[in-house]
Amino acid sequence: MWLTNSSVGRKIVMSVTGLFLVLFVTFHALMNAVALISFDAYNAICEFLGANWYAVLGTLILAGGFAIHIIFAFWLTLQNRKARGNIRYAVTSKPKEVEWASQNMLVLGLIVLCFLVLHLVQFWAKMQLPELMGEHIMPGKWYLEATFSHLWVLPVYLIGFAALWFHICHGFWSAFQTLGTANDKWIERWQCISKWWATIVFILFAVEACYFTWFFAL
Ligand code: HEM
Repeated sequence: MWLTNSSVGRKIVMSVTGLFLVLFVTFHALMNAVALISFDAYNAICEFLGANWYAVLGTLILAGGFAIHIIFAFWLTLQNRKARGNIRYAVTSKPKEVEWASQNMLVLGLIVLCFLVLHLVQFWAKMQLPELMGEHIMPGKWYLEATFSHLWVLPVYLIGFAALWFHICHGFWSAFQTLGTANDKWIERWQCISKWWATIVFILFAVEACYFTWFFAL
C-alpha cells in the first residue's frame, strides 16, 4: 500500500496519528482538570468512561494510534539513517536553523513512552482493565491518591510532561507541513500555534500533578 510503501506515505501516517494523539492528550488534560474543581465530578467521569463500551472502543483506537505512531517512528528513523549513510557521523555541529527538538524526536518520544508505560501501570491497569474483567473498582479519586501520595511520582511525571512539550512543539507544526498545509507564511503560524498548544497542555498536566501531590502527599 502507498501509505506504507513510500516514505511520503509513511510520513503522512506519522502526521495523522501524531495529530490524533495531540487531540487525545489535550482532552485528557482537560478531563483531569475536573479533579482540580471537584473530586465527585471526576469520580463520575471515570465511572462513565470505564463502564462504557464506546470508551473501551476509543481506548482500543487510541492504543492502535500509539502503536502505529511508534512503529512508523522507528521505521522512518532507520530509513533516514540509511539514506544519510555515514554523513550523520561526520556532522559535528548541528545546523542552527534546525531546532533541538526536531533532531531529538525519537529520544523525546522514547522518554514519553517510558512515562506512558509507568502511567498505564499506575492507572489503566488498575482501573479500566480490572473493570473489563468484571472486578469491582474504587472511585477515580482513590487512584489519584494511590499514585500521587508518593513524592517520587511528581518529578518523574514532570520529566515526562517536559519531553511531551518538546515532542508536541516540533511534531504538531511538522505534521501540518507534511500534510501540505504550511506555506512560507503559515509555517511560522503553525510553529507559534504548536508552542502555545504544547505549553497549555504542559501547564494543565503540571498544575494537576502538583495539586494532587500537594493534596495527597503533603
Ligand atoms: C497529571 C497528569 C495525568 C493524570 C492525573 C492522568 C490520569 C489518568 C487516569 C486516571 C487514567 C485512567 C482512566 C481510566 O482508565 O478510566 C489515565 C489513562 C491514560 N492516560 Fe493519563 N493522566 C495524566 C497524564 C497523561 C499523559 C501526559 C499522557 C500521555 C503522554 C497520558 C496518557 C494516558 C493514556 C494513553 C491512558 C489510557 C487510555 C484510557 O484509559 O483512556 N496521561 N490517565
